[in-house]
Amino acid sequence: MNVTEAVKSRRSVRAFTDTPVELETMRRVMDSARWTASGCNYQPWEATILTGQPLANFQAKIAKDGPTEGEYDWAAPGQEELYKKRLNGVSAGMFGALGIARDDTAGRMAAMGRNATSFDAPALLLCYFPRLMKEAQWSDTGMWLQTIALLLREEGLDSCFQEFMGLYHKSIREFLSLDDDRYMVFCGMAIGTRDDAAPINNFDRERADLDDQVKFLGF
Ligand SMILES: Cc1cc2nc3c(=O)[nH]c(=O)nc-3n(C[C@H](O)[C@H](O)[C@H](O)COP(=O)(O)O)c2cc1C
Repeated sequence: MNVTEAVKSRRSVRAFTDTPVELETMRRVMDSARWTASGCNYQPWEATILTGQPLANFQAKIAKDGPTEGEYDWAAPGQEELYKKRLNGVSAGMFGALGIARDDTAGRMAAMGRNATSFDAPALLLCYFPRLMKEAQWSDTGMWLQTIALLLREEGLDSCFQEFMGLYHKSIREFLSLDDDRYMVFCGMAIGTRDDAAPINNFDRERADLDDQVKFLGF
């Protein structure tokens, strides 16, 4: 698989087969991902990857603890029409694929709730970093996560980033014995093998036109 194929075949996968994710595969992916660039070479990212019993224990804990308010705001861009439209686009695609009607609030909540078990993915990466990291280091961490997602494609695996896990930041720190004052939880990443037949993995996604976002000067 070349890089373009990895980029274009990656999508957020929200239904997985029960094929386990092997330790050697994850070690290979995470080892290569260390070569992600970061400002000042800070390499701010950290993660724990769970599978099997530890993952089951973690899911039992967050089910018991319940969500709290998030530590950061991911909804702010939705105030502007352009971004609201993009959010509504992906929601319509997702809920449409699941056959959930626009006015079915309970159905939508239940579908969103599947984030809590990471869509039954066999592995879950939890990503965090010291609180002293600022915008630049959040961005570095995003690059690292995308690198992981692409390397997973090369291994025939798929993923879904999960900001949703930010709602469980307290439980995550407790579960992983992370110092509350030092660590900020960024997100989760569900990892496993794509269930190709699942409609939720097959709806059409939209992207802005290239020329609306990028200008080319002097060519
Ligand atoms: C940092 C980050 C957090 C995300 N959090 C969630 C999440 O909590 N739950 C979810 O279903 N999708 C989540 N997504 C997936 C986005 O909805 C998805 O990337 C977007 O709709 C574009 O679709 P694609 O990834 O299939 O190309 C997240 C994506 C990113 C980059």
